[in-house]
Formats: sequence, structure tokens, C-alpha cells
Amino acid sequence: MWKCIAATAALAGLALSSGQIAQAQVAQPGRLLASNCFQCHGTNGKGPGFDRLAGESTAEIYKELKQFQAGKEGNGIMAKHAMAYTDEQLRLISVWFAAQK
Ligand code: HEC
Repeated sequence: MWKCIAATAALAGLALSSGQIAQAQVAQPGRLLASNCFQCHGTNGKGPGFDRLAGESTAEIYKELKQFQAGKEGNGIMAKHAMAYTDEQLRLISVWFAAQK
């Protein structure tokens, strides 16, 4: 009986913490999408690696991503990445990187 209560309490604790994680992701929807860029542009877009993204303006990042997507810029690496996102996702990513200082 006590074991059962303890197990239930442990499960409730687990449910709460995953709920909190979900909440954190809702609070920063761009972060989850942007984390896909960290291996090349550095954690949070702050380098080292290819171009630093943190702190560039939202409009600038978005414009470049749309140009990559259209195949009008770069050597193809970024075009492949940009293609996979919707305009709304690119906007969320751009807003998120612009807010990193
Ligand atoms: C496999 C490595 C790689 C990944 C992953 C990657 N990039 Fe890039 N990125 C590059 C390279 C290389 C360049 C330089 C331009 C080129 O050669 O196409 C670049 C350039 C850029 C530029 C233009 C340069 C600048 O300073 O503004 C932006 C914006 C950009 N990336 C955004 C992103 C975003 C957003 C993601 C995630 C969705 C991402 N990148 C993921 C390799 C990568």
C-alpha cells in the first residue's frame, strides 16, 4: 500500500516536471526550432562556428533565410536547412536569435 502511494507520488512528480518543460517550450517556441542551428552557428547562435546569428536583427535573419530557401544565396548548406521550415517557423527562429545578446 505505502509502496503504491510512493509510486503514485513519484509519477505525479514526473508528470509535473514534464508539464513544466512543455510550459518552457511554449514560452519560447523559437528556441526549440533554433536549437537545430546551434551545431554550426554556436550555442544560442553565439559562435564559434559559421556566422554568428545572436543579436542580428529579426528582419535581416528572416530575409537571409528566405533567400537561402529560394536558392538565391550561399553554397547550398543553408538552402537545404531553410527549405524545411514554414514562414512562421522562420519568423519564430529569427525573432528568437535577434533577442540573444
Ligand atoms: C550544417 C551547418 C549549418 C547549420 C545546421 C545551419 N547553418 Fe546557417 N550557415 C551555415 C553556413 C556554412 C553559412 C554561410 C553561408 C553559406 O555558405 O551558405 C550559414 C549562414 C547563415 C546565415 C547568413 C549569415 C548571417 O550572418 O546572417 C543565416 C541567417 C543562417 N545561416 C541561419 C541559420 C539558421 C536559422 C539555422 C537553423 C535553422 C542554420 N543557419 C543552420 C551553416 C549552417
